[in-house]
Amino acid sequence: MKDIFDFINDEDVEKKLKKLMYREIPMEFIIEESFINGRRLPGYGIYYNFFDYMINMGFSFDGNVIEVGSGYFPIFSRYIEQYQNERGLSGTISVYDPKLIETLPSRIEYHKEQFTEETDVSRCSFLVGVYPCSCTMTVVKSALKNDIPFGIIICRCNNYKEIDEIKKLTESMSGTCDFFGLGSDYVPVVTYNPYVKKRVRI
Ligand SMILES: C[S@@+](CC[C@H](N)C(=O)[O-])C[C@H]1O[C@@H](n2cnc3c(N)ncnc32)[C@H](O)[C@@H]1O
Repeated sequence: MKDIFDFINDEDVEKKLKKLMYREIPMEFIIEESFINGRRLPGYGIYYNFFDYMINMGFSFDGNVIEVGSGYFPIFSRYIEQYQNERGLSGTISVYDPKLIETLPSRIEYHKEQFTEETDVSRCSFLVGVYPCSCTMTVVKSALKNDIPFGIIICRCNNYKEIDEIKKLTESMSGTCDFFGLGSDYVPVVTYNPYVKKRVRI
């Protein structure tokens, strides 16, 4: 799948769109399924890169993961679900976004609401955000307060100004905080792991 035209010309999508015309399936269902199954739309490869990067960095998607700011469809959480299912893992996945549209049946726990610093994260083992935009700092603060590892693709809309703030906040903590440019566009990813202690220079 190279671009939007491939998506539109896809026979499977065409069949589904015809069904949609007869109101057999909702539009959201088709869109979401198409994103998940086919890497069909440009730009979404970064989700896979992010996933691989986090795994390579030693972060674990095996436990109870919370994704904040998923947008209408929890595409990234679907990858986590797929990962857990393929390995027979018993972890949980919760998503927070006031915009969420619940479509495909899944194990994902939907929270069509804002994630705040007061949101219960006591069972959470990993917090993730893919361009969580205005709630980036809420995710960071909640994670730091509760000693939870996090991985966030930083949103461009604030000119990446959160990065310095995140650096400052994590500097005083004992875990490691890394910044990394992902993919050919060098999308900045910030990760934090309280269980990997800071390397001490001798
Ligand atoms: C730039 S969009 C990113 C959507 C999606 N992750 C993507 O990659 O396309 C940011 C999302 O964060 C959500 N958001 C903003 N504040 C939030 C909060 N406090 N809790 C949960 N979601 C929030 C918005 O509703 C929006 O859907």
